[in-house]
Parts: sequence; structure tokens; C-alpha cells
Amino acid sequence: MNQSRFAAIILAAGSGTRMKSAMPKVMHPIAGQPMIAHLLDALQPLTPAATVVVVGPQMDDVARVVAPAQTIVQDPPLGTGDAARAALRAVRDRLAPQGDIDEVLVLYGDTPLLRSATLARLLAEQEQGPAAILLAGMRPADSGPYGRLVSAPGGGILRIVEAADATPEEYAIGLCWGGLMLIRARHIFKLVEALDRNNAKGEFYLTAIVGLATNKGLRCRAVELPATELIGINTRAELAEAEALMQSRLRRAAMDAGVTLVAPETVFLSADTRLSRDVVVEPNVTFGCGVAVGEGARIRSFSHLEGAAVGAGAIVGPFARLRPGAVLEEEVHVGNFVEVKAARLGAGVKANHLSYIGDSEVGSRTNIGAGTITCNYDGFNKFRTIIGEDAFIGSNTALVAPVSVGAGAIVAAGSVITHDVPAGALSIARGRQVDKPGRAAEVRARKRGKV
Ligand code: UD1
Ligand code: MG
Repeated sequence: MNQSRFAAIILAAGSGTRMKSAMPKVMHPIAGQPMIAHLLDALQPLTPAATVVVVGPQMDDVARVVAPAQTIVQDPPLGTGDAARAALRAVRDRLAPQGDIDEVLVLYGDTPLLRSATLARLLAEQEQGPAAILLAGMRPADSGPYGRLVSAPGGGILRIVEAADATPEEYAIGLCWGGLMLIRARHIFKLVEALDRNNAKGEFYLTAIVGLATNKGLRCRAVELPATELIGINTRAELAEAEALMQSRLRRAAMDAGVTLVAPETVFLSADTRLSRDVVVEPNVTFGCGVAVGEGARIRSFSHLEGAAVGAGAIVGPFARLRPGAVLEEEVHVGNFVEVKAARLGAGVKANHLSYIGDSEVGSRTNIGAGTITCNYDGFNKFRTIIGEDAFIGSNTALVAPVSVGAGAIVAAGSVITHDVPAGALSIARGRQVDKPGRAAEVRARKRGKV
């Protein structure tokens, strides 16, 4: 286990031009969570002495997401070396009263698939045989725009060459730098201050510190880590690749925890989705953020859940939509084309067909007939519908909120309920049926113009 004290700096100020987006690159979500939040989650168990995130101007939303980590603004963004320099000044100010750190861990905010265990491996590796700079190396299928790690003749790494600056021989190097390095604190400040803009892009490249270090006789080396954790996101296509990798990781974790995914590749999870043991998820289900599903529940095909809690043994779908604030207690059945929003359905409630239940409470065992709608909105305000236990709401009922239906009451099919129904009552609120014997033939004849 790593004992050394380290500070973490995360570079996230780049404009992300290649994303062609109004949103900062590191805010683009993967599994429902901004990419930078994934990185902070991975870092947190390693308890850095300080974490400083470099952001660009007008990136207040990034600052909110990374809080309580400290953010500093790099303006204008002059390259990764310039960002690191800004971060290091903040680290120095922050940690001066607490004494020295041993290492600085540099992370790139667009590398969201890193896991804690891999970061721990990098730190542990440094304990084994300290280097001035320990680089995370990887061999991606396509080395594309990554910096290439140029090996030193006697072992170790001589320098990083950026793809744009590489000779054809250097460009052909398969070992790339994965946006993660650990630098001895006693060297980093001087190295970073010595960077210049003498390269193809005219930026301060952080990667140039490796060449500077070896020129000074300092040892740099690389540890090869899985490319599946180190891919950097610069384009929408890479974002989609990272999403796919994250989804397969989340699906695998769910299955390992005792969840059946009938067709795993068709189920989309969020980073915070919680599925209990023996949950069964049928094909083509999407979990947005904030969903928890209790033991043995079944989520049937083509359902969409977000901000919802599903109790043990419940059945949801097919084609159900649970929106934020939907709470289904044990054994609730919510069937096809039923939408539930900000509503608590007590144990054993059944709403099996074509309903909207919003801003409501429904008591245990109540049956909601097909086509029942809670009319919760009058165009200006939202109102609540309260339904007691063991009630029966007939098909195609409109419950015009604010309204309540007492426990055990029965509402006749097709009713438009505009005032409270007492407990135990039978309420019928619809036009009375009139039958006119034999008149059908007369009507038909008139329509055909014969009379
Ligand atoms: C960078 C590396 C490359 C490496 C790859 C790994 C450099 C010069 N190149 O390339 O060797 O293989 O990452 O993914 O470092 N940023 C700032 N301020 C700036 C510029 C960038 O904070 O002025 C941040 C960005 O927000 C991003 C990170 O630094 O999170 C990396 O920048 P990016 O432009 O993505 O660099 P790459 O071209 O991917
Ligand atoms: Mg990048």
C-alpha cells in the first residue's frame, strides 16, 4: 500500500474544440455522470493530500461538480504545461503550511475510465523503484493523436513526442502516453517552469517535461496499463466508445452482483444504478440516474426509469416509464404504457395499462384501472391526488386534482372525479346511458339519405 503523500492535479481547462460543443468537454456525461466526476470518484479512495482541478473561464458548472476539490482558472488556456504550472502554484500555496508532499499525480480530465485500483497500482509501482517521472503507458488499437513514448537505449523512457511533432519512425511507436503521470514533487516545479512553446502547436506541452528530465539525468519510466482505462476523449466518436466500455463494465458488475440481464448489450445503466440480487432486466431497458431496484423485481422490456425506487418483487413494464420521484413499494405492478412521476404506490398496487399517475399517493393494494389519469396540472399549478388503501379506480377515470379517494372506495369506469370520494363510497361521475330500442335502423336509413 502506498504510504507517500501526494497531491493530485486534474487538467480540465481545454476548450475541447474537437467536441464541437457549447458544453465544456469534461462535462459530457458517461453513464449519466460528467466525465470529470468519474475521475474524482476513482481518485477519492486514494486520499490525496490536496486535489486541484484546472478549469477554463466560465466553467462554473465544472467547479460545482468537482467540489469540494479546489478549482483554479487558467485563462487563457495555453496548453497542458501551462495548466499544470497554474495548478502547481495552487498546490504549493495550499500545502505550504502542512509540509512537503512526495509526489504529484497529474490526471487529464478527459480520461474518465480510470479505476481506483489502477491509480493505486501506479502509486505502488513508484514505491517499488522510484523514478523522477512514472508514466502510464498504453497500447491503444489506434495510436492516433496520442503522445508516443520514446524508449531510452538503456531502458526507461527518453521523452514523449506528440503525434503532430513525430517523425514517421516515432509516429509508428505503439506505446503511447495515457494522460496520467506521477512526478516526484522535488523535481516537478523546476521542470514545469522550464517548459517552452517550441512545438507544432505553439503550446506549452506538459509532455515535454520528460525530455527535460532525462536531459538533467533524471530517470523516467513507464508502466503499461490497460488502454481500456486510459483512452482520452477528444471527439464525440471517442465519447461513444468510452460510453460503450463503461456500459459493459457496469453490466458486468451488475451480473457479478446477482442480477440477470437477459440481453446485457441492450440494457443501459447509469453509474449510480443500484440493482439488488435476483433482479431480472429484460432486453431494451434504460436506467437514467438515481434508480434503485429491490430484490427479485422484474423490469420488463422497453421500460425507461429515472430517479425512481422500485420495491422488492415489483414488476415494471413492458413499456413503462418511471420518472423522478416514482416510488413503487413491494410487489407493485406497473404495466404497459403507464407513466409514474412524483408518486408513491403502496405495496401491491396494480396499474397495469395506459395510465398517468403524477404527484400522487396510492394506498396499498389499490387497483388503478386501464386509462386512469391523474389530472395534476391546470396549466398554472400542480396539484396532488391521494388515493387510500384497497380502493378500486375504474378504467378511464380522470382524477382532477387536488382530489382524494378514500380507502376501500370504488370509482366507476369512465368517471371524471372532481371532488373527494369518501372512504368506502361508490362514486359514479359520468353521463347516464340511454337506450332507444329499434332506433338503430332508423339512424342508418337517415344517414344513407333514404328518408
Ligand atoms: C494529451 C497529451 C498526449 C496524450 C493525451 C492522452 C499533451 C500536449 N498531449 O493530448 O501526449 O497522449 O493527452 O489523452 O499534453 N487542458 C488544459 N489546459 C490547456 C489545454 C488542455 O487544462 O491549456 C486539459 C484539457 O481540458 C484536457 C487535458 O488537458 O482535459 C488534455 O488536453 P487535450 O487537448 O485533450 O490533449 P490531447 O490532444 O488529448
Ligand atoms: Mg485529450
